[in-house]
Amino acid sequence: SLIRRSGRTIGVLVPNINNPFFSHFLRGIESVAMDNGYIPLIFGSNNNQKLESYYLFESIRRAADGMIIASAISDVSYIDNILNQNGIPYLLTDQAPVADGDQVDVNNYHGGELLANYLIQKGHQRVTVVTDQHPTLNLKQRLTGFLDVFRSHGLSIADEQIVETELTKLGGYHATKQALVHNPTAIFALNDEIAIGLYRGIHEAGLRIPDDISIVGYDDIDLTEYVTPTLTTIHQPSFEMGESAAKLILKRIQDRDRPFQSVSLPIELVERESVKNIN
Ligand code: RIB
Repeated sequence: SLIRRSGRTIGVLVPNINNPFFSHFLRGIESVAMDNGYIPLIFGSNNNQKLESYYLFESIRRAADGMIIASAISDVSYIDNILNQNGIPYLLTDQAPVADGDQVDVNNYHGGELLANYLIQKGHQRVTVVTDQHPTLNLKQRLTGFLDVFRSHGLSIADEQIVETELTKLGGYHATKQALVHNPTAIFALNDEIAIGLYRGIHEAGLRIPDDISIVGYDDIDLTEYVTPTLTTIHQPSFEMGESAAKLILKRIQDRDRPFQSVSLPIELVERESVKNIN
C-alpha cells in the first residue's frame, strides 16, 4: 500500500457535476467537512470506469482519509479491496450499489409510488416513462414503485412505453420523439434533467404542457421552479444527503469499529403546474 499521512481530505465521487442534484449534494458534504476541518476532493466520474479508477487511486495518493461514492461503480469488491488495503473507509450512496456499511438512504421505491398514485388520481392511464439506459439500483427501485402502483390498479405500462436515454437534459431532449410515439397523456421522467430536456422537445413538437401532455420529474432541482410550467416532482433532500454522508464518514474515520449506522431521509411530492387533471 502507498505510504500516506492524513491530509484531512474526503474524496467524493459523483457521476455528473453538471446536474444541480449533485452540486447540492456536494455542498452538503462541503459544509460538514469544512466545519470539521476537512476538505472535499471532488471528482465527476461521468460514469466512466477508467476515470473512476484513476480518481480512486488519486484519492489514495493524495491521502484522502475517507471516501464518499455516489456514482455507479461497477464492482464493489474491487473498490473494497483497493480502499481497504489502504485503510480508507468509504460510504456508498445514491447511484452506488448497496453494500455492508454506513448508509444514507432515501426511499426511491416510495417516490415512484407517490408519482404513480398522483398521476392515476389525475386521470392518467396511458403513461410513458423515460429512464436511463443503464439504470442504477436507485433508479430501478424508483421505476419499480411506479410500475407496481399502475399494476395494482389493473393498468399496465408495456416495455415499449419505457424509453431509455441518458440521465441529462440532452438525453431527455433526444428521447422526445420516442416518448410521444404511443400518444401518452403523461410522461414520468426519472429525473428533473430529463424532464427539462423533454420540455424543449415537446415545445418543438408543437405540443403544450400540461394542456396536451403532462410531465412529472424526480429530484426537485432549483430549475423546476423556473421552467414554464413549473415542474411537479419528488423532492430529494440532496443537501441533507450530502451532510449525512459526510457526518457518517467522519465518524467512521474517527472510529473504525463503531457499528454501521443507517440514516434514512424523507422525500415528498411537490405539486406544481405540469400535470393536468383529465378526469
Ligand atoms: O438527477 C440525478 C439523479 O441521479 C438523482 O435522481 C439521483 O438520485 C441520482 O441517482
